[in-house]
Amino acid sequence: MNIAIITSGGDSSGMNPAIKTFVELCYEKGDTPFFIYDGLEGLIDNKIKKAKLKDVENIIFLGGTIIKSSRSKRFFEKKYREIAYKNLKNHKIKKIVMLGGDGSFRALDKIHKEFKIDIIGIPATIDNDIAKNDYSIGVDTALNVIREAIDDIRDTASSFKRAFVIEVMGRECGYLAMISALTSGADLCLIPEIKFDINNFQLRKKDYYIAVLAEGVNKTEEVRNYFQKMGIESRITILGHIQRGGNPTTYERIMAYEFINIALNTKQSGIVTFCNNKFKVRGVDEVVNGKYKLNSYKLSLVKKLGVKK
Ligand code: F6P
Repeated sequence: MNIAIITSGGDSSGMNPAIKTFVELCYEKGDTPFFIYDGLEGLIDNKIKKAKLKDVENIIFLGGTIIKSSRSKRFFEKKYREIAYKNLKNHKIKKIVMLGGDGSFRALDKIHKEFKIDIIGIPATIDNDIAKNDYSIGVDTALNVIREAIDDIRDTASSFKRAFVIEVMGRECGYLAMISALTSGADLCLIPEIKFDINNFQLRKKDYYIAVLAEGVNKTEEVRNYFQKMGIESRITILGHIQRGGNPTTYERIMAYEFINIALNTKQSGIVTFCNNKFKVRGVDEVVNGKYKLNSYKLSLVKKLGVKK
């Protein structure tokens, strides 16, 4: 059978090990792997090519995605999906494995419903915001990039007795900020899931402070001003896209292998999820219509940071 792999939306580290496993396992099973380049844009533009073992020989340690990615608006228009389907048909592709987030899954599901192409999604987004799924490819590497950055910032923060307000990615989900705050010993953590009121802050007197904020709360300046008003010199660091890069960690590579292995051994269409340490293939609707929930215990720990008792 001809099977294609596509990476869509924000890239994440671990996509390349997944692509390597995909190609190798396809050949092992007697299937023919194809690459769809440039995400859903490339599917419309027929950037589809048979994958060779040679293509994935030297990629296991690389961040990003060798087949590139995009965010496609065109794919939400039926006329472009018809073109995409024609391209798939011409290559006799019967199944698509997609690494991406829920927006991408929603888009691909349309082609599944309209043209009966089998699709299987694998969560791959540093935001870790996929419902019914505890782990998305890219998260461990992003957390390690953030941890290293905060450790470095701590050196200068402590030398100067300053407050550092560190903004991490996460538009609607505070997962990266929450875990990073807990594992970096932050004094404050602001995430979209927790109602924020600056009047509730009550910081213990310290030489320096670390505050970790998810970009989605949009309060980076406000928190910096709060520290300034308290007479603490403060600086903002926005970590930005470095969080999407970096060589995939060991855990990332193993998870990439596992996700792909399940995806290729699954007959039905759906999304491979990892929940309570078990893989489970769920229906696309169940996943894309659900809402990711942060672990309530960890949430209770960050809620306590820096606020009045
Ligand atoms: O992939 C998810 C993400 O990294 C978000 O955390 C962030 O808000 C967004 O993508 C950034 O998107 P772009 O790369 O298009 O600027």
